[in-house]
Amino acid sequence: MSKNNSTDSFPDERTEPPLAQQPVKDSSPGPLPSSMQLTSDGKLKHFLTIEGLPPLLLEEILDRAEQFVSLPNKAKVQAPLLRGKTVMNLFFENSTRTRTTFELAAKRLSADLVNLDIRNSATTKGESLLDTIRNLEAMGCDMFVVRHSSSSAAHFIARYCAPHISVINAGDGRHAHPTQAMLDMLTIRQFKGRDFTPLKVAIIGDIKHSRVARSQIHALTTLCAGEIRLIGPQTLMPEGIEKMGVTSYTNIEKGLDDIDVIITLRLQHERMDSAMLPSIREFYARYGLTQERLELAKEDAIVMHPGPANRGVEIDSRVADGPQSVILQQVTNGIAVRMAVMSMVMSSQAATRVES
Ligand code: MLT
Repeated sequence: MSKNNSTDSFPDERTEPPLAQQPVKDSSPGPLPSSMQLTSDGKLKHFLTIEGLPPLLLEEILDRAEQFVSLPNKAKVQAPLLRGKTVMNLFFENSTRTRTTFELAAKRLSADLVNLDIRNSATTKGESLLDTIRNLEAMGCDMFVVRHSSSSAAHFIARYCAPHISVINAGDGRHAHPTQAMLDMLTIRQFKGRDFTPLKVAIIGDIKHSRVARSQIHALTTLCAGEIRLIGPQTLMPEGIEKMGVTSYTNIEKGLDDIDVIITLRLQHERMDSAMLPSIREFYARYGLTQERLELAKEDAIVMHPGPANRGVEIDSRVADGPQSVILQQVTNGIAVRMAVMSMVMSSQAATRVES
């Protein structure tokens, strides 16, 4: 049975059954009006998607994140930018890196943090998502960090929550994972410099189901990367993806030629409709990033993976642990990028309050 009952809009909570009881909605909510995530003077109010954000705003996130990266450890603990604010982590899907780094980021900014235990929450007793949100608002929440298997869940919450609350999308269905893409951009910038125009970037694997790939493509095109290549079997390539300004390759050897940055992706079995691959073994044989294949890229190419990485499926251990791998640097950067985004949305909320 298909896991992806695709529709373009998120259900209307007033007429539909509670979210927890609904099938997974897994298509893009489409481009957002910028007023959905920006204030009238162009500041970040919610962080839902990279699509449509101006390059200067992405640069601002990266610059601010760099400041947090360079703070000594003690100062990180004491940054008071979110003192008195309450952040609620709402993770309806599993996560290790994203949830933990959001948690560390909130703590380093001195926020009060609540990790809602979704498995034991009232949504599993049939409470609608909107009712859960209203109750959490009543407890004095200032920011929701949302991960959900439904594309557009974060948009839905942003649309209906109280105006003083900011929403950060921590991954929705196969639609977007904007903070992951920004930590990837920070990592690229640290190793390759601020100018993305000469860079050739290859993204390998299950592009079709990857919210990470979509957000990375938006970020890379906004930052004017020289060339973006998508490498993978036709069955894992979204239809019409070339419209996003990328080139697709089914031959990994050709796709890796002269590349500066290689991003490998996990096979998202949980989002696949049916058997889209002959076998894992064949996928690795045709698309696994081995040392031999890595040597087709530039000598100083970096290797990235958003995690969780499956060794021997999309990447060989020698490459994942090798000198060109920056995978753990990506994880470290996750804290700084999330600190940057959280502090930006809260300061734009404070400015809006002062004006009104
Ligand atoms: C995600 O949440 O999309 C991850 O960071 C990547 C993955 O699950 O493969």
